[in-house]
Amino acid sequence: MEYKLLIEKAAEARNFAYTPYSHFKVGAALLAKNGKVFTGCNVENATYTPTVCAERTAFFKAVSEGVKDFEAIAIVGGKEGQLAPFCAPCGVCRQVMAEFCDVSNFKLVLGTPEHFEVYLLRDVLPFAFTPKDLE
Ligand code: THU
Repeated sequence: MEYKLLIEKAAEARNFAYTPYSHFKVGAALLAKNGKVFTGCNVENATYTPTVCAERTAFFKAVSEGVKDFEAIAIVGGKEGQLAPFCAPCGVCRQVMAEFCDVSNFKLVLGTPEHFEVYLLRDVLPFAFTPKDLE
């Protein structure tokens, strides 16, 4: 799948973000190696800490449906009513990506549908602690 289409799907998923507290809306579209796309948005909570990021929503949707091999994730975000030029994933989400993805191959498509850049997970999570470290 073309990454432009993937980031468009992330922008679409962002419309479902539940953000009554931060008003910061994030959308993600996770491309599995089998070609399936799992979308996600952030879901906030009145007690704050149960909040889940868009990226983890997408990962957990996929894993909970038996899919664990991934190629790329597109992420868009910004304050309600506007899309920021760039929205990087938080550290916790990077760690979740490292659980399932090879840091040297998994790609992050960041930016907007109009202008995006592609990064490797290892670029944004150097010296990752991964399941291999527990072998
Ligand atoms: N958020 C995400 O969904 N993904 C990120 O990588 C950064 C932060 C959400 C969490 C919270 O609902 C809001 O953005 C503000 O932090």
